[in-house]
Amino acid sequence: MSATDELRADHIQVRRLEKIVFKCAEELKNGEDIPFSDLTKITIVISEFVDTIHHSREEDSYFPCVASHDSLKDEIHKFLVEHEFGRNVAKKIHHHLKRWKAGEDARESVSRYLKTYAVFLNDHLNKENKFFDDAEEKVLSEQEEIDMYEQYRSIFAVVKKVEDMIKEIDYLESCPWYQK
Ligand SMILES: [Fe+2]
Ligand SMILES: [Fe+2]
Repeated sequence: MSATDELRADHIQVRRLEKIVFKCAEELKNGEDIPFSDLTKITIVISEFVDTIHHSREEDSYFPCVASHDSLKDEIHKFLVEHEFGRNVAKKIHHHLKRWKAGEDARESVSRYLKTYAVFLNDHLNKENKFFDDAEEKVLSEQEEIDMYEQYRSIFAVVKKVEDMIKEIDYLESCPWYQK
């Protein structure tokens, strides 16, 4: 395995999340009931998997390593801006979900920001997948790939957390509102 493959593996899970988020936004828009507990799970997977684990892997090691070769710097800058955008949208989802749980009618706001988040994920994943191909083929050395991969796998708590997050994604896909 290499760092690039590990990030691609993350993307496969994030893609599943994207589809869940999109479906959830649509169902809410159509007036369907989705338990608050499922909506909360979605916000947890976004915060703990996408932001805390996956974006950190990119921001703290992968992007700096590619940039250290003086390569693909414009792309990296755009991705960092997009990560920030994603975090802001996630905050909005969290904020409106909290209002909704407190009794205000925030269904439309939650639905709208979920939709925005799904569109962001789709666009971001497409661009980064292409970037990974370029970085792997033209920039990173085999040793750098191995070193970063080992670094990703070295923290047991993070590896365990990813497994837990995948279970949450499995659960969300099994929900009746997602299945129909
Ligand atoms: Fe990213
Ligand atoms: Fe990514």
